[in-house]
Amino acid sequence: MSEPTKFLLREEQIPTHWVNLLPDLPGDPLPPLHPGTKQPAGPDDLTPIFPMGLILQEVAQEPEVEIPEEVRQAYGLWRPTPLFRARRLEKALGTQTRIYYKYEGVSPAGSHKPNTAVPQAYENAKAGVKKLSTETGAGQWGSSLAFACSLFGLDCEVFMVGSSYDQKPYRRSMMQTWGATVHRSPSELTQSGKANAEHPTGSLGIAISEAVEVAAQDPDCNYSLGSVLNHVLLHQTVIGQEAILQMELAGDEPDVVIGCVGGGSNFAGLAFPFLRAGSKARFVAAEPAACPTLTRGVYSYDFGDTAGLTPLMPMYTLGHDFVPPPVHAGGLRYHGDAPMLCGLVKAGRIEARAYKQNETFEAAVRFARSEGIIPAPEPAHAIRAVIDEVERGDAKVILFGLCGHGNFDLAAYDAYLGGTLEDPEFSEADMDAALARLPEAPAIA
Ligand SMILES: Cc1ncc(COP(=O)(O)O)c(C=O)c1O
Repeated sequence: MSEPTKFLLREEQIPTHWVNLLPDLPGDPLPPLHPGTKQPAGPDDLTPIFPMGLILQEVAQEPEVEIPEEVRQAYGLWRPTPLFRARRLEKALGTQTRIYYKYEGVSPAGSHKPNTAVPQAYENAKAGVKKLSTETGAGQWGSSLAFACSLFGLDCEVFMVGSSYDQKPYRRSMMQTWGATVHRSPSELTQSGKANAEHPTGSLGIAISEAVEVAAQDPDCNYSLGSVLNHVLLHQTVIGQEAILQMELAGDEPDVVIGCVGGGSNFAGLAFPFLRAGSKARFVAAEPAACPTLTRGVYSYDFGDTAGLTPLMPMYTLGHDFVPPPVHAGGLRYHGDAPMLCGLVKAGRIEARAYKQNETFEAAVRFARSEGIIPAPEPAHAIRAVIDEVERGDAKVILFGLCGHGNFDLAAYDAYLGGTLEDPEFSEADMDAALARLPEAPAIA
């Protein structure tokens, strides 16, 4: 065929190393702070809930970190993932812009999340841990960790954000099929859950508090986080490394790279290897208008969870106890973002845009009707941003991350197609209330 649609790599081209962007970041790194003393938190502060293998990756200064062979073997179940040229979408949009997407929906769980779930389960199993606890928003992360735990013989306990638990019963079934135990959050099982009973739709912040509490009280159980932390972003860089090779196969170089941002891991996974390679592209992060951390948040130290159990991290935040409206992009309902990504937004290297639900689903349906794949609501934000770029008219080559499929998100599509999808937005009053509750911590420039 003279006009290929897919650009594929062989299994031996699965990356051998992850790209650590920490040494390339502008300015001095801002350390996480201990939640009690507000002093810089060191590796020892993290040992109650993380294994040393992951803590060392969290603070690694080397530009690359080797991927353990067992992890590469497991990656072989779905990696390398395909890169597509969106010829049909280009035609539907009537554009000369060449659009490519890196598709992570071919993993067993249907998104990019197993890229980090597998190395996290591996390091915990190696350290003799018996069980992992975690939160899940969209259900993508919980199912990915359940899958990864099943590969390495670990038990898995998941606190699923209430609104997603109700919207996506089959995500719960997936987790149970892989052997996990799933609770609706806020639950009655933890202090953090009981303290938040008045927020029945839940939030990622509350679910994280519940999962951290369980891990902190059980010596055989560690906690696992699906985004935000340095080691999670590190693991996701397999995406961008493969995409660089695939863009070479296509004979093109992106001048705009786009992804959606919840905590920042799929975006970073795609973008960081291009940044390391010195790409001159513009980088655009797309987020929901209902939870606009990068576009409206303040750059400040804040807790990663609602109860204030995690270290304080420097990030764009809407306030750690902000409970976003129950929009369908459950994976984007987080009050903050990865510190590494926030630093790059602050430095002006990454742009951010926020989109409402209906305009996002309109883009997703357009994509599904041209390219076939039904996108998850999270990357639908990236597709909205792609269409915006095309309409602005100055991009020649766009690469975006299609980080998951939406086959378990059909309730959301139902609501959109039935005209009942709402467009909640973040109000100034929400903002003022949340910021008034920011913890006391050193100011950051
Ligand atoms: C499909 C999908 N995309 C995106 C995200 C957002 O997370 P991140 O910004 O870390 O990629 C999630 C999180 O659950 C998700 O499930």
